[in-house]
Amino acid sequence: MWKLWEIGEVSLNDEQINRYISDVYDEETKEFRNKLPTLDKTSQPFPSISNNVASLLQLLVDMIHAESILEIGTSIGFSTIFLALATRTYGGAVTTVELDSETAAKARNNFSKIGVTDIVKQLIGDAEVIVPQLTRTFDFIFLDVDKSLYPKLFQPCVRLLRSGGLLVADDTLFPVLELDPEWHHLVQPIDEFNHMFAGSKELESVILPLGDGVTIALKK
Ligand SMILES: C[S@@+](CC[C@H](N)C(=O)[O-])C[C@H]1O[C@@H](n2cnc3c(N)ncnc32)[C@H](O)[C@@H]1O
Repeated sequence: MWKLWEIGEVSLNDEQINRYISDVYDEETKEFRNKLPTLDKTSQPFPSISNNVASLLQLLVDMIHAESILEIGTSIGFSTIFLALATRTYGGAVTTVELDSETAAKARNNFSKIGVTDIVKQLIGDAEVIVPQLTRTFDFIFLDVDKSLYPKLFQPCVRLLRSGGLLVADDTLFPVLELDPEWHHLVQPIDEFNHMFAGSKELESVILPLGDGVTIALKK
């Protein structure tokens, strides 16, 4: 058997890869970031997706013209805003779930500042309780909540996704990242979750080494 291309041993680490991608797209993302003057994600302790993952989310929403989006894990609404601005083009809306009511209030304030309040519906409470109770289907689901819940939310998310819809999950490469010991307990549930995707007959999926790992799955 012959190979078209012999890459050899790859010695880049994920940090180098992500920094390079950020640099290449710096001018493009700067223009967008300038529209978010009041959301300084570097100076606050709330976790949020990286710019590279934000760009990926917007691209995926654009690719399927997603009109109905479910986000699980709002924090202060950084990713919600990216999703809302992308789906607004198609007349869509985002439903987002957050456990902590104070954090949800900060997100609501940010939605108002950016002007997306009318297309963001906030559900405040435990995703483990709320998500299984949802009945409508979604074009796009973004999972970015407490990672120990990932395996429990897998089946409810697949059920809520329409055929041809996308399920995207953040931080799925924790099992191979050098993590602080405080995050070690999340390796097992994320590994279990990743194997659920790989073994699913309902989904086609891939894990990309963007940010801390992003899984993209298409429901057949
Ligand atoms: C990683 S952050 C979300 C970041 C956000 N997606 C972004 O990129 O801007 C995870 C969020 O999930 C929330 N959370 C944790 N456990 C939860 C639960 N059981 N139900 C709902 N939200 C939860 C946390 O309070 C936190 O705000």
